[in-house]
Parts: sequence; structure tokens; C-alpha cells
Amino acid sequence: MGMFIVIEGIDGAGKSTQARLLAKWFEDRGYEVVLTKEPTDTAFGKLIRKLVLTGGKEGIIDGARISHEAEALLFAADRAEHVAKLIRPSLEACKVVISDRYFYSSLAYQWARGLDLEWLIDLNRFAIRPDLVILLDLPVKESMKRLRSRSIKSEFDKIVELQKRVRENYLKLAERFPEMKIVNALASVEDIHRDIVALVEHELLGK
Ligand SMILES: Nc1ncnc2c1ncn2[C@@H]1O[C@H](COP(=O)(O)OP(=O)(O)O)[C@@H](O)[C@H]1O
Ligand SMILES: [Mg+2]
Repeated sequence: MGMFIVIEGIDGAGKSTQARLLAKWFEDRGYEVVLTKEPTDTAFGKLIRKLVLTGGKEGIIDGARISHEAEALLFAADRAEHVAKLIRPSLEACKVVISDRYFYSSLAYQWARGLDLEWLIDLNRFAIRPDLVILLDLPVKESMKRLRSRSIKSEFDKIVELQKRVRENYLKLAERFPEMKIVNALASVEDIHRDIVALVEHELLGK
């Protein structure tokens, strides 16, 4: 079996940046790496982008466009495909799988929508547990600064409210799931990368 590593955190925490750096770190050491993300680029992922992540008050902020339950089911369906078609086969082929977001995102965000956490965990029972989950943690204010160009200005306050709840949820989840390790994402890109590599070496490579 390969190794399954997930990077989590609020928007702008640096997940994509760190996922790329970690993939390169493994590649430089001769590992076969699959760098992937959720939502995926499959038909399910596209549906999620269309129905949930399109911004404005009907979409990402209060999720008013579809029911919260339907939203959770869509994310779970996308993940089921992701696990069956890419993650499980890659792990069986002894590759290193690095996913930018995974089921912890569903828990943190859908829980913030008001859904029942235990139902969300049950719904995702098929999702293979990663060997290591890096939670990039930083204050929402800082993440919003990094994302200035990405955010919708008129909805700024509502986005901040949601992101704050999501950050708190992630920290609570880290107490429940021992595979989650918190990394301070306020540091420089290079320092965060070094912290992640140290965790990988300690937790997975037995160094
Ligand atoms: N440690 C860091 N310090 C300052 N800016 C960063 C840091 N990491 C990433 N960024 C910048 O912040 C923005 C969001 O980073 P990104 O990796 O896309 O975050 P995410 O994938 O979590 O939304 C990008 O413009 C990126 O270059
Ligand atoms: Mg990203």
C-alpha cells in the first residue's frame, strides 16, 4: 500500500501551494505521486461547482441554492468516485496520494451549515482514512488578505462569518481524529513546507 496524505484548511490557508511543494518533495525522492483535489474534475465535481461554489448569497455563503442535505450528498458522491477510481487504485499501486481537501472539508463546512456531524461522518464511512491530515490553521483575517482578489466584496462579512465557523470546526475535528495534525499556516511558505516535511518524516517515514 502507498501513503495517503490530505491537506485541509479554510480558503486561502495555503493548501494548494503546500500540496504542490509536498508532491515535488516526494517526487525528488523517487516516489510516484498522485496530486489530486476535492471537489474533483469529474461530472460530480462540476455539478458541485455549478450548484454550490458559484458565489453570491445563493451559493457558497448560505448554501441556499440547494438543500444542505443535497449539498452533503453531492460532495459524498464526488468523493465516492474519487476513492473508487483514483485514490484506492493509486494506493494499491503503492503510490503517494496527496489530496487538496477530503472528507474533513465536508465535515467542517456542512457542519457549519447546521447539519448533524454524526450523520456526516456516517455518510462518509466509505472514505478511506488518510495516513496523515495536515490542517493548515490561520486566522480568517489573514486568509482573507491572501484571497482579496478571489472574494466577493459585497458579501465580505458573510464570508468571514462562515470561514470563522469552519476554522473552529476544523480545530474541533482535530481533537477527534488523531490523524489530523495542526500546522501554523501564518508562517512563510518555506517554513510551513519544512513543518509539513518534518511531520511526514516523523509520522509516516519513521524518522
Ligand atoms: N505562507 C504563505 N504566506 C503568504 N501567502 C501565501 C502563503 N501560502 C500561500 N500564499 C498565497 O495565498 C494565496 C492562497 O494560497 P493557496 O495555496 O491557493 O490557498 P488554498 O489552496 O488553501 O486556498 C495564494 O495567492 C498564495 O500564493
Ligand atoms: Mg486551493
